[in-house]
Amino acid sequence: MLVSAKEMLTKAKAGKYAVGQFNINNLEWTKSILLTAQELNSPVILGVSEGAGKYMCGYKTIVGMVNGMLEELNITVPVALHLDHGSYDGALACIEAGFSSVMFDGSHYPIDENVAKTTELVKICEEKGISIEAEVGSIGGEEDGVVGAGECADPDECKMIADLGVTMLAAGIGNIHGKYPENWAGLSFETLDAVQQKTGDMPLVLHGGTGIPAEMIQKAISLGVSKINVNTECQLAFQEATRKYIEAGKDLEGKGFDPRKLLAPGAEAIKATVKEKMELFGSVGKA
Ligand code: 13P
Repeated sequence: MLVSAKEMLTKAKAGKYAVGQFNINNLEWTKSILLTAQELNSPVILGVSEGAGKYMCGYKTIVGMVNGMLEELNITVPVALHLDHGSYDGALACIEAGFSSVMFDGSHYPIDENVAKTTELVKICEEKGISIEAEVGSIGGEEDGVVGAGECADPDECKMIADLGVTMLAAGIGNIHGKYPENWAGLSFETLDAVQQKTGDMPLVLHGGTGIPAEMIQKAISLGVSKINVNTECQLAFQEATRKYIEAGKDLEGKGFDPRKLLAPGAEAIKATVKEKMELFGSVGKA
């Protein structure tokens, strides 16, 4: 059964480790992530962006797929199905479809509007026992062709949003989605420290987990980060393994064209990436 992310993140914050959010794109992704979490006895959050939601035929299809896998793969570790960077309407649609967690990303609104919309969604999520993530200070990176630098959140605004009763809070600390540029200034631990001081026990979320050096990840966890989102790194691992398979001409040998064979190296590569991240985040054995 899908669970809210609240309990796993409260434990992570208290235990000074982080739970990984791994974004899913299809059946292979989902299966690889769930099997790895089970093997390592780790809690896990499956992230679904609105774009990936459309790609996978809509939120109801995803809920059906994930619930089916939990049962048929005998997954017993805590699993949350979470909307990533949701709009207000997207969050409502996911709640309706059976997600156990949603993110409302109101970071691009003026703070008053972010507060108003987050407040409404917190109330709905509380009634349904669903966890909710809010965001302050937008995360940079390339999204729909627009490249933004990672912003640093205002700690007072973070406190305003945290006090609304959200489950977890994403604060921009110079992090960006996708690969980091050569001249990236690194995470702003000063901002993170100030945000944690204002928000106390609130589990903080680090987006853009791809390519952040291990020492920075560990330092971020020590300063209150309890959820780390990874997407691009699994995509790159899948792409590299698939490229190798085809470049080696394996798709031309025997039944190497069968998607069950063609996609297998990519699926294994996702498992290896997820394992590496769970070990780094410290969530192994914490289910
Ligand atoms: P990356 O694609 O950089 O790993 O970021 C993932 C993310 O933050 C999803 O919200």
